[in-house]
Amino acid sequence: MTILGIETSCDETAAAVVRGVGSETHGNASVQVQVLSNIVSSQIDIHKKYGGVVPEVAAREHVLKILPVINEALKKAGINRRGTINRAPTIDAIAIANGPGLITSLMVGVETAKTLAYAWNIPIIPINHIEGHIYANFIRQQTTDDRRQEIKFPAVVLTVSGGHTLLALMKGHGDIKTIGQTRDDAAGEAFDKGSKMLGLGYPGGPAISKQAESYELQVMNYEIKLPRPMINSANFDFSFSGLKTALLYSLKKDKNWKKKIPEYAREYQQAIIDVLISKTIKAAKKYNVSTIMLAGGVVANLKLRCQFEKIIKNKLPNINFVLPDLQYTTDNAAMMAAAGFFKAKRDEFTPWQDLRVDCNLEL
Ligand code: KG4
Ligand code: ZN
Repeated sequence: MTILGIETSCDETAAAVVRGVGSETHGNASVQVQVLSNIVSSQIDIHKKYGGVVPEVAAREHVLKILPVINEALKKAGINRRGTINRAPTIDAIAIANGPGLITSLMVGVETAKTLAYAWNIPIIPINHIEGHIYANFIRQQTTDDRRQEIKFPAVVLTVSGGHTLLALMKGHGDIKTIGQTRDDAAGEAFDKGSKMLGLGYPGGPAISKQAESYELQVMNYEIKLPRPMINSANFDFSFSGLKTALLYSLKKDKNWKKKIPEYAREYQQAIIDVLISKTIKAAKKYNVSTIMLAGGVVANLKLRCQFEKIIKNKLPNINFVLPDLQYTTDNAAMMAAAGFFKAKRDEFTPWQDLRVDCNLEL
């Protein structure tokens, strides 16, 4: 089965073509998807000057980019698009992210997907954006480590992006339940806001991690201390707004903060990482899972990836640790198409007439 994925939830216009590979055996999921093309047109340079995403600007840019991006994805995948009404190209279904996200951005992708589904007479599969991030883990990786190729359930999945911080228990395909989430800011949002305070610009994650790295190379003893909110709370929820406020007050009190930006960046990043790791490990133990998976833009953070790997190896050596290739951490359409592939196997299609945008869609 070959799936065209489309993603326009925020500030990336993306299209991708994937197909299924592997075989399914009882109790595990060795079926994965192979990416034939993955095109992402990022608007980061446009939004940078405003210090964050401007929804109206994002929607206009999606309108300009969506068809060229889809065309490129089809061409790169070797799909012969005939373009005649009722003559589908060799695409079996369209997977489209229909929420959560910015309503004006989501609408561009959804209306395009509906039009193509009608013109090509093929079914449509709505995808929850967070579920899409999770399915980045089911994209076949260029790795020699076979453990990564086979994901055993149950799994605990941490999704950390600009809009979401969520721990989920995944017992199988189509069986994903939220066990905790942020009560205020998302982890990516915390990176973005912290970065703004430190004068490092947008997006904050890469900017903060670059500064943090430059500091860690020189110093062994860290003086600046920030809180790890809710790290010991008896649940799997998160809160990052207090950390942001703590940074703000620390900077206000410190007349020399501009000379210590790398040190602040290191401590701020470490505070976020400590909370994410602690809660995920706790959840993995409580639910006695076989696999821990990570997903979302914040998983592009190399320190986070490294520290997770080390702790799981030491504390939970029998748990399989899976994380997506870097290119599938931030928003892309390959992960939407991957989620679509598994839904298509379960016949979870929606007639294009019934497809709606839901900017507050829950997992
Ligand atoms: O998943 P994503 O592309 O979009 C949403 O669904 O929100 O995530 C974007 C977020 C931004 O907040 C960005 O600062 C963060 O991911 N991010 C990072 C890194 N790269 C991107 N955060 C920490 N470290 C990074 N290297
Ligand atoms: Zn996302």
